[in-house]
Amino acid sequence: MKTLYINIKELLQVRDRNVTLLKGRAMNILPRLQDAFLLVENDTIADFGEMRYVNTEIADRVVDLKGRFVLPTWIDSHTHLVYAGNREQEFVDRINGLTYEEIAKKGGGILNSAERLQKTSEEELYEQSRQRLEQVIAQGTGAIEIKSGYGLTKEAELKMLRVIKRLQKEYPVSIKSTFLGAHAIPANYKNNREGYMDMVIDEILPEVAREKLADYIDIFCEEGYFTVADMERLLEAAAQYDLAPKVHVNQFNIIGGIPAAVKNKALSVDHLEVLNENDLEALKDSSTIPVALPLCSFFISIPYTPARKIIDAGLPLAIATDYNPGTAPSGNMNLAVATSCIKMRMTPEEAINAATVNGAYAMGLSTSHGSITKGKKASFIITREIPSYEYLPYDFGNNNIDRVILEGKEFPEVKA
Ligand code: NIG
Ligand code: FE
Repeated sequence: MKTLYINIKELLQVRDRNVTLLKGRAMNILPRLQDAFLLVENDTIADFGEMRYVNTEIADRVVDLKGRFVLPTWIDSHTHLVYAGNREQEFVDRINGLTYEEIAKKGGGILNSAERLQKTSEEELYEQSRQRLEQVIAQGTGAIEIKSGYGLTKEAELKMLRVIKRLQKEYPVSIKSTFLGAHAIPANYKNNREGYMDMVIDEILPEVAREKLADYIDIFCEEGYFTVADMERLLEAAAQYDLAPKVHVNQFNIIGGIPAAVKNKALSVDHLEVLNENDLEALKDSSTIPVALPLCSFFISIPYTPARKIIDAGLPLAIATDYNPGTAPSGNMNLAVATSCIKMRMTPEEAINAATVNGAYAMGLSTSHGSITKGKKASFIITREIPSYEYLPYDFGNNNIDRVILEGKEFPEVKA
């Protein structure tokens, strides 16, 4: 089946030769074709070019996209989309003056979500998660990383990971799964962090590996959560199972997580709301990509990741939503892109690159996702009629997506 999309006003993120990672000034270049066509064969991008070179004969179906832009689907490389219930009460507590840390100290936060998740059946957890996934797909996300970490017992962590696996099977999006057993210290291990780490490493991790339930390993390296030594121990253990690290570091405090993660060959270091010269230095000449989560900064009113500092230092940057019930109850990548421009002073070109090419790198999908390149998955966004691509982040909070095509098919599938 060959579908030819014609009269595309602008085809964004076209890369004749695949690029895996954009750093520094290269992030400010967004290659695009005006008045273009895109040829899709089954689930794959077969060809693209300018309309004057189009050959409509070869297609089984021709779709006229007059006035619309086409760009690769967003790549959301950091989410906690599988969770039970919500935490709007903590949101109100924060409005009334409590901080995220104060709420966590009185038993709220991650432990609150864990308690709910432990009591929720696998079927119900799947149902809630499926609805969220469908919502973010409609918002243009075509590949997504999802973490465990609201289980905090062997049984509940495995339950989360199995739900992620089921989503992988049921939806035409690429999903990567990350084991985040070390997300918080559960109440029954309150004064025994070491004991909890033993349990995660000796009891849960081997089972996660045996059932092939995760692609990556994560830990919340932060004061009041896990130390750098905990992180190093976990990452070494996970390396034996070939689980590369994607870690939560520098959200509230700088405790040395970034240099340690880089040393342990982390694929990504995520959050970085606080960052010093030593961290920037550690990231230079490494294969670790920083990931900013602007919706978390927005929602809990903490500093934004210093994107300008990172990019101007010649480093790469990806952006993701952090979709979770506590610090970012939205998986809307359009909003993450807009917030990156508005609050982190990223240019529209940088933000779009960060949410596509660099997002794909941050979840190990560079060969199949992130750009309009022959041979990659035909997963792309068709916009409404818009005047320019800069309009996308400018028109923040409004929906400019007309249709989402996932692996060659419109989602949700339109019955002919
Ligand atoms: O990425 N910081 C750690 N984990 C999540 C928030 C977890 C929660 O509050 O439920 C985050 O922000
Ligand atoms: Fe997170």
